Amino acid sequence: MQTTTTRFYQLTATEFDWKISDQITIKVWGFNQSFPGPVLKARRGDTMVIKVKNDLQEATTIHWHGIRLSASMDGTDDVQKPIQPGEEFEYRFIVPDTGTFWYHSHFNETRQMERGMYGALIVEDDTEPVFDADKVLMMDDIKLTADNEFRKGNFIERWMERHDGRQGDIVLLNGKEEPEININAGQTERWRFINSSSARYIRLYLGGKDFKIIGTDGGLLEHPEEVTEVLIIPGERMDIAAGPFTEGENFLIESLAYNRTTFLKTKDRNIATVKVGATKPSIARLPYNLREIEPLAPQGAEITRKVKFSVGASWKHGIDFLVNGQLHNVDKQVNVGELQVWEVSNTSLMDHPFHLHGFFFQVIEENGKAPVYKAWKDSYNLKPKSKIKIAWMPDNRPGMWMYHCHILEHHEAGMMGHFEVVNPEKGPSGVHHHHHAH
Ligand code: C2O
Ligand code: CU
Ligand code: CU
Repeated sequence: MQTTTTRFYQLTATEFDWKISDQITIKVWGFNQSFPGPVLKARRGDTMVIKVKNDLQEATTIHWHGIRLSASMDGTDDVQKPIQPGEEFEYRFIVPDTGTFWYHSHFNETRQMERGMYGALIVEDDTEPVFDADKVLMMDDIKLTADNEFRKGNFIERWMERHDGRQGDIVLLNGKEEPEININAGQTERWRFINSSSARYIRLYLGGKDFKIIGTDGGLLEHPEEVTEVLIIPGERMDIAAGPFTEGENFLIESLAYNRTTFLKTKDRNIATVKVGATKPSIARLPYNLREIEPLAPQGAEITRKVKFSVGASWKHGIDFLVNGQLHNVDKQVNVGELQVWEVSNTSLMDHPFHLHGFFFQVIEENGKAPVYKAWKDSYNLKPKSKIKIAWMPDNRPGMWMYHCHILEHHEAGMMGHFEVVNPEKGPSGVHHHHHAH
């Protein structure tokens, strides 16, 4: 029997010096003097009590990306007042699912996340496959001035960033530029990749070696999927089984080129060097059956709602990033217990990482085809000129929720939708969306 417990954490947000390499020290914003913030750990069913103290010069909120918590704890400014400088807020929620989750600022997020306001939250239970080691690998990228400061950019740069999302020229893994990762020959490790960058699409590649995807946003897949590369979009997680390798078989973790927009040509990047040390015995056991994922709806299920991501010309901004033709779209209510089958389309010529807060969905169709494997997702790439059909079930957690593009600059520009989940027996949650000041 699994027993649950209450876990108390304190996260204090401050500005501090952080060495990204032997040569470069930068001023970052983050939690408990660590960039990324500390890895929070729990067992499924535990209650998390997380006090966030804000010792920055500006307000913040913390969003628990991928956790099915109650709306009031979701950390968006639809549901809570921002935590002002000097103030503290206690988040309290149960973690009902196992998997790789993360927390990040949801206020002035382009600036706060670029500076390091994020960390991982790992939830496990007794049914996990056994590995020789478990590593959390958060990937990000930053752009610095000649004086190693976060720069504001000139007008053109800012226009380009609003359009494409900010991409940095320095790629970081756990806050370090091209760090070394050690693994022993003969062993198999679980590597939990999290893409916390504002806009970089990472085509993860281990120098051509095979690896197995074992999980993603909402926990384990049904079976390991053997691949040589996998796309990880901003916000998304990929758990992989890496190894066994042979001694001295060192290689690079890379991101292959991905052309996300008509303008942008992302170059290949080195993310880390893997050093394979002496052979050690292994206790790793990766079964073929990891778990079962019950399909929520068949491929042909009737669409209950259409959500359209598009870009449009605008007098004010040159270009607008829209959902159903609106900035900060206010979408229809969703009833508790009514299966949602949404067609999410992208009419633009660029990719957008679609992210739903608070609920996992299954992709049941992409451009008319069933996906390669079943998975619980909260972030999924919308390719240019394409459509996905997703199914999700609003369980009984009424309140204001949202979906948005996880390219942070697009989200900030208004590419998002707010909606309320209501329990028809109880009536509206009483929380009302307040409009954003632009
Ligand atoms: Cu990581 Cu509003 O999301
Ligand atoms: Cu908004
Ligand atoms: Cu976008």
